Order: sequence, then structure tokens, then C-alpha cells
Amino acid sequence: MNNATAVIVAIQAPEKAKSRLANALIPYHRRTLVTAMLTDFLEALRSVHSGPIIIVTDSDNYQDIASQTDAIVVEDSGSGFNQAAIAGIEFAANNTEADSILVFPGDIPQASSNDISDLIASLQASRKDAVTLVASKDGGTTGLGLHIPTTYQTQFGLESALKHREQATLLGMGVNEMILSSLEIDIDTIDDLEQVQNIVGKHTASALEIILFEKHLAERRSFRGLQGPPLTQEEIESLIRLGLKAPAPHHSTPWRFVIVGSESRPVLAGEMGAKWKQDLLGDGVPEAQINKALANSSARILSAPTLLLGCLVQEGLNTYADSERASAEWGLAQHSIGAALENILLAAHVRNYGAYWISAPLYAGDKVRAALRLEHEWIPQALIALGRKNSDYKPFDRPELDINDYLIWRE
Ligand SMILES: Cc1cc2nc3c(=O)[nH]c(=O)nc-3n(C[C@H](O)[C@H](O)[C@H](O)COP(=O)(O)O)c2cc1C
Repeated sequence: MNNATAVIVAIQAPEKAKSRLANALIPYHRRTLVTAMLTDFLEALRSVHSGPIIIVTDSDNYQDIASQTDAIVVEDSGSGFNQAAIAGIEFAANNTEADSILVFPGDIPQASSNDISDLIASLQASRKDAVTLVASKDGGTTGLGLHIPTTYQTQFGLESALKHREQATLLGMGVNEMILSSLEIDIDTIDDLEQVQNIVGKHTASALEIILFEKHLAERRSFRGLQGPPLTQEEIESLIRLGLKAPAPHHSTPWRFVIVGSESRPVLAGEMGAKWKQDLLGDGVPEAQINKALANSSARILSAPTLLLGCLVQEGLNTYADSERASAEWGLAQHSIGAALENILLAAHVRNYGAYWISAPLYAGDKVRAALRLEHEWIPQALIALGRKNSDYKPFDRPELDINDYLIWRE
């Protein structure tokens, strides 16, 4: 076991770490990312370093990672990187047999084990009165090595590489400077993350996947400004395949889909419109108002570059004699087609197609079935209009909701 070097990793609590990422990330994502970055670094480090690893932190969030990588957690007050480094150096001097220390930040998930290993070897081979320094491209410090005991005061913060060199000169110490490609970037912003996303370790890669996936979920909007060309058969089929992955009751597969071509659309729009008009007249809505609404709705159906109809069939569903359970069972099937259509809307969003839901078929099932010559068992549910995004269109504002109006907790 090589105990000559103690490695100190200073990391703040997730809610404080990476403050420049805070605006771009919700707290859950920030915690996930910070924890993943530390895990990748510790795993890379542990694979080449059998000596002491000391995590200096003001949080109990890292206990699990510490025990998985056989690291020691030293608590500090969270008052800054330099204070954490001092606490780590003190701990290493008093509690380990190490005669040198290496200080790292906890946010270098792209650090390769080869680079870490070279750095440790170089530190151990360096003169006792030299500082070993790895600078990042932006003038920060991604690795600092010292022989202990030492009077050297670490200078982490803005322009720290320069300050570390100056501090060495002031104390008459040499600088053993290393350029290590995987340690050239320290991650402060989303742009930094994008630069290293292909070389980060697996935990950070998976945290980034989660963040990106959920960003897509949060950003999907109904996009009604559509233009051609229509989706190709391959594009459509690949979307439908995702629809077919929706959860469904009792392992059933009750969804059916129709791509409605331009020939069928005038009849479809006319039939649904006639039914709607009849309903609205019954409600006492003025005819001029009805005609305007019908014209809008018809134009959307006729002009959608691609028009997809989602239907349900009874196949695989339970049958009940009483209406309460029969209606609940149909409710299950409708939940499932909703899930299938949402899969399609989300995939359309990720692919940067425009897409939105049209609920009219639910009010005019018989007319839709007749207009499209569908089998009797197919019960129309909703249309999804799809196309390329017209850049002039801006989705409606959708203000952030207060979760407390939508979520309660019960013991
Ligand atoms: C069941 C259902 C029915 C909908 N019906 C229509 C519709 O007939 N026409 C339409 O333009 N949008 C329709 N929408 C889209 C909603 O208006 C839209 O999802 C909602 O305003 C939230 O906006 P967003 O999708 O942009 O986030 C429907 C959505 C759902 C889930």
C-alpha cells in the first residue's frame, strides 16, 4: 500500500457547491450532479491510489460515496476551499503516515486515472521544497501537491494558478507544474459541462442524461404553428413504436393508430364539424361564433402536415355487467392511450417537431369512424397534429405552478 501521499478532496454541500450552475439547475439536479461528479473522481482516484483519501466537507451527503471508496470524511465549517484544504492538510499530518498531500476540488469528473497516477508519481518524485501544480485553462487549480509539514497557504479561488505560483516564489519554493489534459477544465458552468460530457465518468454521464431527459419533459409544449414537409413513414413509425411502449391495464394493448391522409381530411373535418355545430346550437351559441370556431378547427385538420388519430379497442380489457366497473375499466384504457400519446408528443418534442393534441374525435366517435371507414371496434379518442416547426409561432405562456397547490402529503 502506498501511503506516501494523502489525497484531500474539498467539496461543499450540494446546495452550496457549483453556485454558478444553480440558476440552470433545480436543486434535485444540482445535488445529483455534484454527487455524481465526486463519485466519478473518487472512483478514478481509488483505482490508482491505495493510500488515504480525505473528503473535507460541510455536508453529510457524501458518507455513502466515502465508504464505497474507502475514504475518510472530515467535517469543516463550509467557509471556503482554502479553509477546507487547511483542515485536510492538518488531518493528514496528524492522522496519516503521508509525507505529501494532493488537494483536488470535487468537481473534476473527467479526471482520468492515468493523469491522477502521473500526478501522484510526479509529486512523490519532486523536490521537498516544490509545489506541484496543475492549472486549468481558465486559470484555476485542478490539483495542488505539497510535501508536509508545510507553511504554504493554498490560494484557491479566482486566478488561483497564478496565486499558487506567486506564493511559491514568495516562500522561495520551486513549482513542479504539470499539464494534464483531463484536468484542464474545471466545471463551473453548463458550457464547461458540455465541453467534457463525452469524457466524464459513468456517474456524471448518467446524471447528465437524467438532467437532459427531464429538461425535455419540462420544456415540451403544444406547438400549433406547423409547416411541411409531412413526417416520413420512418419518422411516423418510430414515433408510434414509442406509443406502443405505453403502460396499459392487465398487459393489454388497446391502442390503435390511423395516419389520416389529405384525401380523407375534408370528409373528416366536415363530419366532426357538423356534429360540433349541432352540439353548440343546442347550447345556444350564436351561429356566427360557431362558424368561426368551425372554420379554425377545420383549417387545423386540413393543414396539419401529418395527422395521427389515436383509437382504443376493448381487446384485453375486463368486461363487467355493472356500469360502474365497466366505466372504470374504460377509464383505464383512456389513461393508457393518454400515456401513449404523451410518449409520442415527448418524442416529437425531443426531435424538434411541432405537435399538439386535438380532442374533437372524442365528441364525434361515430362520425370519425364513418369518415375514415374504421372497423366498428375502433373507438376514436384524439388527433395529434405533427409537422416541422414554423419559427414565427410562439407557444402560449405557461406560468410556473406552485407545487403546494397540487400536492398534499398524508401520513
Ligand atoms: C386531453 C387533452 C385535450 C386537448 N385538446 C386540445 C384541442 O382540442 N386543441 C388544442 O389546440 N389543444 C388541445 N390540447 C392541448 C392543451 O391545450 C395544452 O396541452 C395545454 O394548454 C397546456 O399547454 P402545453 O401543452 O403547451 O404545455 C389538449 C390537451 C389534452 C391533454
